[in-house]
Amino acid sequence: MVDTFFSVIDPPHTMCRMSEQRTITSVAVIGCGTMGAGIAAASAAAGCRVLMLDLTPEAVERGLSLVEPDDRHLIDTGTIDADLAKIAEYDWVCEAIVEDLDVKRDLFRRVETVRRTGSVVSSNTSGIPLRSITEGMPQSLRADIAITHFFNPVKVMKLFELVPGAETTDAVVDAFASFGANELSKGVVHAKDTVNFIGNRIGCYFMLAGLHRAKPYLADGMSQETIDAVLGPLVGLPPTGLYGLIDLIGLDVMDLVGKNLAVNLPDGDAGHAFTSFPDAEQRMLERGQLGRKARDKGGFGRVLKSDDGSKSKETFDLVKELWRAPSAPDLDGVPTELGDVVFHDSPQGRLAWDLFADTLLYAASLVPEIADDIANVDNAIRWGFNWKKGPFEMLDHLGPARVRERLEAEGRVAPSMLAVLAREGGETFYRETADGRAMLMPDGSVQPVPATH
Ligand code: NAI
Repeated sequence: MVDTFFSVIDPPHTMCRMSEQRTITSVAVIGCGTMGAGIAAASAAAGCRVLMLDLTPEAVERGLSLVEPDDRHLIDTGTIDADLAKIAEYDWVCEAIVEDLDVKRDLFRRVETVRRTGSVVSSNTSGIPLRSITEGMPQSLRADIAITHFFNPVKVMKLFELVPGAETTDAVVDAFASFGANELSKGVVHAKDTVNFIGNRIGCYFMLAGLHRAKPYLADGMSQETIDAVLGPLVGLPPTGLYGLIDLIGLDVMDLVGKNLAVNLPDGDAGHAFTSFPDAEQRMLERGQLGRKARDKGGFGRVLKSDDGSKSKETFDLVKELWRAPSAPDLDGVPTELGDVVFHDSPQGRLAWDLFADTLLYAASLVPEIADDIANVDNAIRWGFNWKKGPFEMLDHLGPARVRERLEAEGRVAPSMLAVLAREGGETFYRETADGRAMLMPDGSVQPVPATH
């Protein structure tokens, strides 16, 4: 399905690389699976010429099914081996192939010999550091490459994490940021080249630490339905809560995420304690009880269809390791105002503190390690995980002083940004000023929240 209409090759750019403004109007996507096809479809929907390459014509054909019929005339296709030279006709070369460092590096070496001067390059990797991809690569590639991390499904998810390398030029970052925001209508978050970037660093901590921290509550008889209900809209999270969210993502994916974190988290990071599953979840993984994708095998829950077409739900009891009928969550006496459960004197309240507030505190320990400012963290979590408030917005809602007092009472040290706030003497991370919204920075200064936030 090759469209020859757009066969004119733009003349190579000859201006100085460093100062040259880059504009993206055409996109070559390499790897047409879930993510590549989504990026191709979104770019075509924005009116861009798009090239879709994969190992085989069949793989490309599958990816094309995500492209709206009205946009097909914008698409050219081919295989990586036969048609890589075509990328010289495109402004942005976007890699979305299998998550394997050596395979990606081989591809980028080939890309670098063919792409045109002035083009920009990116990887959609979800966890490989950019510095590992570009190590030993030509300077020209290191100046022109960034990670453009979209979330699945690309069409729906607003978050677009943009991660430059140490040598990526400002012009390249600007081109990606402007294309992401203006053409693809994404929420651009500026992240640093650290493991899992922002959204997944915090979101996966919530899930992996949550599985462990939930254990004493389960042992005391709290149901998984209650745990999911406490960790849902009561604290501004989607109704999937903890177990429902992992069922959606898949235990196999979470297992790989944990293994990657074990290798790449910095020494001393709190996440190290939670990179492998608790025993019952490990046995689920080994049985192929991976979540929604495993159909009848299910995950933490499953939907069974009987012969007459009726459906029934079941919950996998993690203590007995047996299927049982679902039970109603127990929220008796639990306050329903957003976040109030965190300070409620009840098992549900203690769970909210141990699992949810703990994630807020983890986030508050990661600035400036993973992002230059708190607004990028809040945007990543709101747009990537659909939280009502980002971690710092939620800390403001709960009252940072109250959170600090509880930490002190428990003999715990306040994470870095809470400590900065205490030193600076402010009451909240965000403030309304005469010039608009401002935020506390890691150095204790207060800066305007940029308009894109
Ligand atoms: P996928 O498995 O759906 O698609 C990968 C594509 O790469 C396939 O079409 C396959 O034919 C091709 N491929 C496989 N081996 C190849 C090779 N040796 N050379 C060239 N192409 C090859 O994978 P998906 O989910 O689209 O992931 C692509 C990238 O995006 C990965 O780096 C992944 O970590 C990342 N990512 C995935 C997300 C997700 O939720 N699926 C979310 C964000 C990032």
